[in-house]
Amino acid sequence: MNGMADESADFQDVLDARLGRRAALRGLGALAAGFALSRETEGSEHLSDPRAPASTDAPSAARVEESCSSLRFTEVPQGADDRVHVPPGHAAHVLIAWGDPVVAGAPTFDARSVTRARQELQFGTENDFLAFLPLPRGSSSSTHGLLCANHEGSRLHMMFADVPNAAFALAEADRGHVEAEMAAQGHSVLEIELAENRWRVVPGSRYARRITASSTWMRATGPAAGHPRLVTREDPTGTRILGTFNCCAGGVTPWGTVLVCEENFNKYFAGSAFPESERRNHERCAIGAEMEYGWHRHFPRFRAEEEPHEPNRYGWVIEYDPYDPTSEPKKRTALGRFKHEGATTVLAPDGRVVVYMGDDDEHEFVYRFVTERPWNAADPAANRDLLDAGTLSVARFEPDGRLLWLPLVHGAGPLTGANGFASQADVLIEARSAASLLGATRMDRPEDVEANPVSGRVYVMLTNNTKRKAGDFDGPNPRAPNRHGHVLELMPPALRSGERDHGASEFGWELFLRAGDPFERPDVTEIAQRAIYHPDVTRDGWFTCPDNTTFDPLGRMWIATDGGARKGIADGVWATDTLGPGRALTRRFFRAPVGAEVCGPCFTPDGTTLFVAVQHPGESDARGRSDGVAFANPTARFPDYEDDHPARSAVVAIRRADGGPLG
Ligand code: FEO
Ligand code: CA
Ligand code: CA
Repeated sequence: MNGMADESADFQDVLDARLGRRAALRGLGALAAGFALSRETEGSEHLSDPRAPASTDAPSAARVEESCSSLRFTEVPQGADDRVHVPPGHAAHVLIAWGDPVVAGAPTFDARSVTRARQELQFGTENDFLAFLPLPRGSSSSTHGLLCANHEGSRLHMMFADVPNAAFALAEADRGHVEAEMAAQGHSVLEIELAENRWRVVPGSRYARRITASSTWMRATGPAAGHPRLVTREDPTGTRILGTFNCCAGGVTPWGTVLVCEENFNKYFAGSAFPESERRNHERCAIGAEMEYGWHRHFPRFRAEEEPHEPNRYGWVIEYDPYDPTSEPKKRTALGRFKHEGATTVLAPDGRVVVYMGDDDEHEFVYRFVTERPWNAADPAANRDLLDAGTLSVARFEPDGRLLWLPLVHGAGPLTGANGFASQADVLIEARSAASLLGATRMDRPEDVEANPVSGRVYVMLTNNTKRKAGDFDGPNPRAPNRHGHVLELMPPALRSGERDHGASEFGWELFLRAGDPFERPDVTEIAQRAIYHPDVTRDGWFTCPDNTTFDPLGRMWIATDGGARKGIADGVWATDTLGPGRALTRRFFRAPVGAEVCGPCFTPDGTTLFVAVQHPGESDARGRSDGVAFANPTARFPDYEDDHPARSAVVAIRRADGGPLG
C-alpha cells in the first residue's frame, strides 16, 4: 500500500485506481479546458470595509447561468490585499477581534496595555475553530446563540510593540509578555444575536467565558486519567491539569457540548534529554525540537527534562459544556493523544457516536473513535461521559479502494508490553507509535475530517506534505512532494435504509480533488503534480492547502484554506457541490486579508450566516515572507485600519444583503 513507486510510470495507474476513471478523465479534461480558456476573471477593484457592508464585484450573470454548479454566487477574484472580499449582494462584518471584551467587566482593547489580567477577560489571539450553538439550548435558532472560538496561538511580536521578532519572543520575552500570551490562548464563549441583518456580541452575558492556558483547571477522564505517566510534581493524582493551548479545530456533540482540540502542544516544551521511559514518546511528537514559545523560561513545568510527564497532559480532545459557564472542561483520553486538528461527530445507525479526527503532521494519520454506548436523546445525564468509553481506530487505505479501520486496543496484535504498551493508557498516550505498529497509512497532514450531513460521505482535508520524498506516493497521497494538498472522500457502507454506517470497520475511498493551480502551464508542471478539479473550474475557483471544512444545509462543502501565500493569493473560503454535475467545481466565496489563514467556517442552522475566523492577518506578504513584519508594521492592518492599531485576528460574519440562504 505505502510502497514506493516510480512517479511518472505509475501516475495513470494511481488515477485509474482511486480517483475513479470518470473523475480522472474529468480532471485531465480540466487541464485541457483550462489552457483553452481566454476569459480573464480577475483584476476588478474589490475593496471593502469590514466594519461596513463589503463592496463587491459587478455580477457576471452569464458565468452564473452557464455553470453546472448549484452555487449561484458570483466568485470573488483571486488576489491579495489588506481587505476582506465577498461576492456581490453579500456583506461581511467583524463580530469580534483579539482584545475585545468577552467577560462582564472586561476592558476595551488597548494596544498599549496588553496584560494577563486584561487578556483573561478579553477575546484571545489567533481565532481558529468556531461553533454556533443556538439559544435556547436544544432550539434551532439562527438569530440567537453562543459562538465558541478557539485561540490557537500567539505571536508576541504582533502583540507587543517592544517585541521585535519571533526569535526575541522565544529567547528573551519577559514574564509579563508570556503571562499575557498564556491568557490569550485557549477558548472563548460569546452570546451573540442578530438584529437588522447584523450580528453583535451581547455584552455582559452570563454565558461569556474565557478558557486559558494559565487559569482554567480541567480534569483528565477515561483510560489514561490518573496513570503514572500523567503524574507530575504539582499533580500527584495525574488527573488535574492546568489549562490548554494551541487549540486548533474542534467539533460539537449531538448533546450540545463542544470539543476543543490540542494540536501543536510540542512547540511549548523545552528539552531533549528525556528519561528512557518517555524517549520514544517525546521524540515522536518532536518535543523540544520545534519550539516556538518561551514559556519554559518562566514556568518550570514546560521544561520536559525536569517534568517529563507534563507534555503527556496535552495533545488531547477536551469536552466542555458552553451552556454552563462553570462547567469543568474534561480531557477525554479515550480519544487518544496526538496533534489533534479537529474532532467532528456523527451518529452511527445504532446510535453510537462516531468522532472523526486528523493528526496534523507530515506522515501522520486519520483516526476514528466510536463510543461503546449509544447516545440517549431522552436522558442527557446518560451522555455526560459517553466519550470516556469506546474504540479508537486508525485508517489504513488499501489501493483497491477499501479503507480499513484498525482498532488501537491494548493486547491486540502488536500493542503489547513487548512493544512498550503495558496498558490501554500507554496505547492512548502514544497513539502515534501504536498506529504505526498497526500499519496505518502515512498521510499528507490530515486537517479537518467531517461527514456531509446530507450524503453521509466523509471528507478529509489533507493540507500538504513537503516532506514527502520523490517517488514516495500512493493512491490516497498521490503527490511527492505535495505542495498544495488534496481532499479525500470516504464512503461508509450504505444500509438498506439509505443511511451510512459510520461505525462499520470497512469503508470505501476516492480522491475528490487535488488542490493547486490547474491553469499552470504543462511545461512547468509534471502531470503527476497537476491539480485536478471539475473541468469548469475558473481562474478564481482553485485553491491551495485545504484546512477546515463545513457543510451548508444542502450538503454543499465549504473549504477554508491555510497556505495561499504558496501561490501568491490570499487565503479564503471556496464552496462546491459534492455530488451531481457540479462535483469538485470549487468556487471562491471569501478572500481574507494578506497574511491570514482562514479557519472555523460555521453556518447558522438555516444557512443564512457563515462565520469565519481570520487568523493572524498581516503577519506575512502574499509570498509568505515575514521578515521585518511586526506589531508596528503588519502587511494588513485588519480590522481597524488605524495607524496605531496592530493587526488583529477576528471573527467575520457573512450574510446576504437580503438575508437569504448563502450559496
Ligand atoms: Fe492548526 Fe492543523 O491547523
Ligand atoms: Ca487547522
Ligand atoms: Ca491552520
